[in-house]
Amino acid sequence: MSNAVILNKKIRSFKKNISVPGDKSLSIRWVLFASLADGTSKAKNLLMSEDVLATIETVRKLGIKVILNKKQCKVFGKGIEGYNYKKNLTINAQNSGTLGRLILGLLVNSSETINLVGDKSLSNRDFRRVAEPLSKFGPKFKLRKNNFLPLKMYGSSKLKPIKYNENRGSAQCKSSIIFAAMRTEGTTIIKAKKSRNHTELLCKYLKLPVSVKNHKNFDEIKIRKAKKIDILDYDIPSDISSSAFFIVLTALSKNSELLIKNVNVNPSRIGIITILKKMGVKILFKNHKIYKGERKADIKVTSAINLKSINCPSKFNSGAIDEFLVIFLVAAKAKGISCFTKLSELNQKESPRLEWATKILTYLGVKTITTNDSIKIYGNPNLNLNSDKKIIIKNYLKDHRVFMTSLIAALSFGGEWTIHDKDSINTSFPNFLKIIEDLKKWLKEKKF
Ligand code: S3P
Repeated sequence: MSNAVILNKKIRSFKKNISVPGDKSLSIRWVLFASLADGTSKAKNLLMSEDVLATIETVRKLGIKVILNKKQCKVFGKGIEGYNYKKNLTINAQNSGTLGRLILGLLVNSSETINLVGDKSLSNRDFRRVAEPLSKFGPKFKLRKNNFLPLKMYGSSKLKPIKYNENRGSAQCKSSIIFAAMRTEGTTIIKAKKSRNHTELLCKYLKLPVSVKNHKNFDEIKIRKAKKIDILDYDIPSDISSSAFFIVLTALSKNSELLIKNVNVNPSRIGIITILKKMGVKILFKNHKIYKGERKADIKVTSAINLKSINCPSKFNSGAIDEFLVIFLVAAKAKGISCFTKLSELNQKESPRLEWATKILTYLGVKTITTNDSIKIYGNPNLNLNSDKKIIIKNYLKDHRVFMTSLIAALSFGGEWTIHDKDSINTSFPNFLKIIEDLKKWLKEKKF
């Protein structure tokens, strides 16, 4: 059975303040750091989504007690060597690439074989990208078809430091290597193409032996063995990737205004803001603050009047990597042809997203030229579908961002949309539909 949402009306104008849930990258990282701390750490506003719950289940399997309720999460760390490696341990990362890749780095010294499995989508994603650098520290790997889950990792007690050039701009690979290096005597050096830097900032805040030199196009990260991790109480700011859907919905709606409260605006994550501002969207940060090494602000966005196309510089890619699907909806309504290049990583996500972007834009009647790493979008400032135009979105590997992007397209451009598998939002943004309903009350639901 597939729960579908049916939409057949554009959204009317709105003026609202909203809050979206805690940041996913920070939530997963907080659970992992806290699980190795000397004592009990507490978090508020931890994202309660399947990816984060899978992370909590994982550390529980490693012998770490976690108490979770709506108000807070408590993780009872037992120190950096506190994991209890049971025989034949199977970790299920479910849909989460971040959990699957980061946890391998933390388990490189496991005395027992680790089996890592995931759902259908994760089982088709590249794990050689972490197995290859991690194996240089000492552990051995067996991957399905040399690349995929399920995999087995045979940890090593004799880890040696490595030098690694991370040239995809993958924060998951970089973080996995940082975690493995924190368990290794000697100095590991990573030359990393720019990507989100939450792991490095948490290391800095926790005064771990990790130093970062920022260069123009890459960062040089030096890591030595961590002896101890202090407890970390954290109030997790909201997720800019979840905010993105509402930023775009507001930009594409008439006479609307939205304030999204207390969002993580780490400079390595705000590519969407830079890109949309260049396209003519008015976005302001208010109450900008530094919080435990991260930045947060309220984001104010207003309806855009004249959207301009963009020839998007690829230096913005890593900061907007999870937001391109919705950014493309803005390009669909902009005047002129927008070009986005060097985006092969988009096809490595929960679904092949360049392909899904092309499908959604084609359903909208927007011309695109897509290659395996680029897309040209022929914008139409008058884009508006007839109410009898029927669009069905299904079989998209339950990629949460495909679901949410399709829904924003339906609310922005009209037509009659049937979007299957609404459960897909549970991986990152379980109350997405509730916030949409609060903005507009006429969503119909139907079971198929
Ligand atoms: C993430 C890194 C990115 C991003 C993912 C979360 C992280 O993946 O797409 O949603 O938390 O480190 P890559 O490392 O594959 O770029």
